[in-house]
Amino acid sequence: MHENTMDRNYKLLVADDEKGIRDLLSDLLRDSFDVDTIDRGDTILEKIKRNAHDILILDLQLPGMNGIDVLRQIYEEKIKIAVVVITASNDIETAITSMKLGAYDYLVKPFDTDKLMVILKNIVEKIELESEVTRLREQVGERFRFKNIIGKSPQMQRIFSTLEKVIDTDSTVLIIGESGTGKEIIAKAVHYNSNRKQFPFRSIDCSTIPQDLIGSELFGHEKGAFTGAISRKIGKFEVASKGSLFLDEISNLSIDMQAKLLRVLQEKEFERIGGNQIIKVNTRIVAASNRDLRELVVENKFREDLYYRLNVVPVYLPPLRERKEDTPLFIDHFLNKFNTEYGRDVNIELKARLFLVEYSWPGNVRQLENVIKRLVLLSTNKLVTVDDISSVLEYENYGTAAEIVSAFPEKPQMRVSRSKDVTVKSIEDMEKDYLERMLQHFNYNISNTARALKISRKTMHNKLKKYNIIIKKTAVME
Ligand SMILES: Nc1ncnc2c1ncn2[C@@H]1O[C@H](COP(=O)(O)OP(=O)(O)OP(=O)(O)O)[C@@H](O)[C@H]1O
Ligand SMILES: [Mg+2]
Repeated sequence: MHENTMDRNYKLLVADDEKGIRDLLSDLLRDSFDVDTIDRGDTILEKIKRNAHDILILDLQLPGMNGIDVLRQIYEEKIKIAVVVITASNDIETAITSMKLGAYDYLVKPFDTDKLMVILKNIVEKIELESEVTRLREQVGERFRFKNIIGKSPQMQRIFSTLEKVIDTDSTVLIIGESGTGKEIIAKAVHYNSNRKQFPFRSIDCSTIPQDLIGSELFGHEKGAFTGAISRKIGKFEVASKGSLFLDEISNLSIDMQAKLLRVLQEKEFERIGGNQIIKVNTRIVAASNRDLRELVVENKFREDLYYRLNVVPVYLPPLRERKEDTPLFIDHFLNKFNTEYGRDVNIELKARLFLVEYSWPGNVRQLENVIKRLVLLSTNKLVTVDDISSVLEYENYGTAAEIVSAFPEKPQMRVSRSKDVTVKSIEDMEKDYLERMLQHFNYNISNTARALKISRKTMHNKLKKYNIIIKKTAVME
């Protein structure tokens, strides 16, 4: 999940005429932000327009132009930037004016850096929430309609009609299915098709987050609740109030956390860790597990009462091998998707298609998706054969694309064999060979090849130089 992870550093500009403050703040914030500084007011606007800063820390007394006028300009020109104002004196009136002009918050000099950190943290959360909203809108627009979830098999049709009935209720939905059967895509569909869709969807993977952190992830904590709790954290239950919370791999929840979760589901309220304020929430729970929770109840590993709380609307996603009529749909869907994504025109010959339908797919839809991705990316012929497929399947567990390319039948000398008696080419040779083949696949278009390899064009050029690969084609379009 693309969860709350900052995928870039936010850009922050410190505008202050005191060098001491600029240095102090640069030092303090350098690790968390891309920090820039400026010592006068009249060039701030130009600078933020050029660098698209996300956050401005603005001293109100600046040479050239005072902070209030800077704010006014930002306001008038509708520039998207979160501003934290610093006032020299306890001049509440100016502070209020600045808030009216759209400043996010203000601090009075001399200020406490902890306070500033909390404000900045809130700003980052706000920015992320907003970008989430934009993303949501895009997704709601296209990806997560039921109609984009594939499934004509009777089992899937039954699931769709169950979900349709309960979609706008607050009912908990429990999705059970083997790995790769589509639990997450169903969870998202439940949210984005419901009347909660304009509120946040949050997810938490109970199998990857250490148990001692789950409480704070779910319920949040107050500043100082434990060592390291430097500021208040809002838990996902609270963020997703009115929205939905996806508890993935819920069988991994410790017995202790199960009890806490049960209480919240019953009371619809809780306290943040270390806090005593009662927080009321209206969060819809969608839970998923790749193990049947009933078995875990029998083994005393899952609380029975929690199981009944969660199991209001059970959805059993069948493995792909039990709904073979869906497989051709998936094949076309993924072929289409990856052909478009990689600018290719690969198809699968009839015999190979039948093979794909008959295969048992232990990794279900996810595995089928990966296999087709690799076939599209790597096949030299327009028509994929059974041999191509079995090579990909055979080498799938090896993971690296270079090894898979080498598995293709046309280049038997490059096979990386599991048996030790075959000489294996050096990594360099393999990489060179691989690059050449990829370039050939992409008609020597460097941008497309680099994109498919998930490397930058710069890295690509470096590699070409390293291996002395010369682009012969003249039809190189970049
Ligand atoms: N019915 C479907 N329609 C379209 N795409 C699907 C469908 N089911 C699964 N997929 C795709 O297959 C991949 C795996 O699905 P998803 O991540 O939802 O499965 P999962 O059950 O959560 O897997 P895991 O157990 O590995 O977490 C995703 O890329 C998803 O988009
Ligand atoms: Mg999943």
